[in-house]
Amino acid sequence: MARILLGVSGGIAAYKSVELARLANKAGHSVRAIQTPASLNFLGRATLTAVTGAPVLVEEWERDPARGAFPGEPAPEHDPISHLELVRRCDVLCVAPASANTLAKLASGLADNLLSSAALACTAPVVLAPAMNGHMYEHPATRANLALLEQRGALVVAPDSGALASRGEWGIGRLPEPDRILAAVEQRLAYATRSLDGLRVLVTAGGTREPIDAVRFVGNRSSGRMGLALAKEAAARGAEVTTILANVLVPRPDGVRHLDVETAEELGSVASVEFERADVLVMAAAVGDFRPSARESGKIAKLGRDGLSLELEPTTDVLAALAGERRPGQTLVGFAAEHGDGASVRARAKLARKGLDAIVLNDVSLPGIGFESADNEVTIVTRAGELEVPRGSKAEVAAAVMDTVEELRRAPVSAPEVGAR
Ligand SMILES: Cc1cc2nc3c(=O)[nH]c(=O)nc-3n(C[C@H](O)[C@H](O)[C@H](O)COP(=O)(O)O)c2cc1C
Repeated sequence: MARILLGVSGGIAAYKSVELARLANKAGHSVRAIQTPASLNFLGRATLTAVTGAPVLVEEWERDPARGAFPGEPAPEHDPISHLELVRRCDVLCVAPASANTLAKLASGLADNLLSSAALACTAPVVLAPAMNGHMYEHPATRANLALLEQRGALVVAPDSGALASRGEWGIGRLPEPDRILAAVEQRLAYATRSLDGLRVLVTAGGTREPIDAVRFVGNRSSGRMGLALAKEAAARGAEVTTILANVLVPRPDGVRHLDVETAEELGSVASVEFERADVLVMAAAVGDFRPSARESGKIAKLGRDGLSLELEPTTDVLAALAGERRPGQTLVGFAAEHGDGASVRARAKLARKGLDAIVLNDVSLPGIGFESADNEVTIVTRAGELEVPRGSKAEVAAAVMDTVEELRRAPVSAPEVGAR
């Protein structure tokens, strides 16, 4: 079980950190807490001291009576510098709630209190659970700080929407329930154990473009963010990751091999070569189902035309083709962007028809998730059942998908017959 360093900053939701610490203890983890001075206005340190069974630190200049030890560990003989010893020993740092102010400090590398100094010295995975007024959360400064922290590897647990602390106020910014934060913490711990070490993971991302002429194309609105989040998650868990990126313009994670393609056909042929050596394939790219039957070599002129009819022909189903080439031991995960009622029935049919191990179902009729957005909400369909992954950042959803991959590989079942069921 893990050593969780819990950072609590100043916000109404500070009281929820107590339940988080209690749940973490119940799950077998040991917890040490650091509170910011401002957080003491919302939560006295006696509460977390009692729940964690260890001293709660606030000031940089105070001595840690436990000398950096976590509950259950003997205190070292020397008297260490408290913020350095706590972060040296922790397996994960979780800041919940993370105030707008603390996020700004972490993003800019300020170290002016015990929590911000500890965060700067921390080499363990970091989980941040922002909680604040909706306008503070939506402010470009907070968004930029969160994006930067995510880019540096922190997992941001997206806040919930609903009633906010100020009377009558409603919107995004509520601290997620503690069980969801603990789940994110436990997923991050997979980094430390490098749970996908030695596996070769192939991820496709983005949306294919099928040329109409030299400048126009038939395409879709996939940004590639979901696929890149999956690639980043797999790499952080120790996998050797290759992505095949169809027209992806968003920043790419380091430590991953990226291959660029444009059309469904290009994606299919690169995937076919790469799939041979992959242990896991995650097809998150939105591959066009149709393409123009003919492509004009120049630019089709507007002059003298009343209209333009396009004839489309189906593209090759890349995922079905790869499923047909699979060898024993390979795990295949597909994505299905479905719309409205019956989405889950159609995803299950696709799982069987294409012979996949899992389908990540995106109901694209829901507002605020899926294509082009930072958040997602999915159902992961496997032959064993369905897992609802509640609305969260794409990084959180990616962690849930990789958990499923790990489960599938722990309990291998023989490759399903394509078309069975
Ligand atoms: C009643 C009250 C409630 C507050 N709630 C929040 C909050 O939920 N989230 C937040 O980011 N800031 C909130 N603030 C502002 C922070 O307490 C303030 O920015 C403080 O400097 C945070 O310090 P810290 O980040 O060091 O904990 C609140 C302030 C008050 C007075």
